[in-house]
Amino acid sequence: MDNGRRIALTGFMGVGKSSVARHLSSILRCDRLDLDAFIEKNTKRTIAEIINGDGESAYRVIETENLVRALRGTPARILSLGGGTWTIRANRELLVADGVTTVWLESSFEHCWTNISKSRKERPLAKNKDAARELFESRQSIYCLADWHFIVRPEFTSYEIATQIAEQVFS
Ligand code: S3P
Repeated sequence: MDNGRRIALTGFMGVGKSSVARHLSSILRCDRLDLDAFIEKNTKRTIAEIINGDGESAYRVIETENLVRALRGTPARILSLGGGTWTIRANRELLVADGVTTVWLESSFEHCWTNISKSRKERPLAKNKDAARELFESRQSIYCLADWHFIVRPEFTSYEIATQIAEQVFS
């Protein structure tokens, strides 16, 4: 099942990238890295503190620096990106140059919003439903550039999605 690829999961906030990555790394028995958590560990600040305090542009610079560190300095084979990581051209170029296979977890806005509303994670770029919907819509054509697309429906568990990815992307 395992063809040695490194993969990065992308998709909108609340789609379940981190949970799918967790299952995928246990199915494939390989290391994973959650980019948001990696940034928080390295900066000793939460993502919300960075975005609320320094602004989104400053955050994007930190995010790209940490993506480079993750790619060059860790053995992690499964990366769960932040919801905006793949939307930045420099990050896409880094991932492509490193031969990382990208997987878009595609879902409806309502499904993502339900998860965002239930979650305790503070998401400064999704402070209200209208702002989040606008961001969601503006990003679809960029997420679409990922190598693989998997549809996430509310009735699918993250384990089921991880299994599908393992079977199809890693075969
Ligand atoms: C962001 C998504 C967040 C986090 C940051 C910015 C975005 O990650 O990286 O708040 O631009 O969509 P999740 O997708 O894990 O919530």
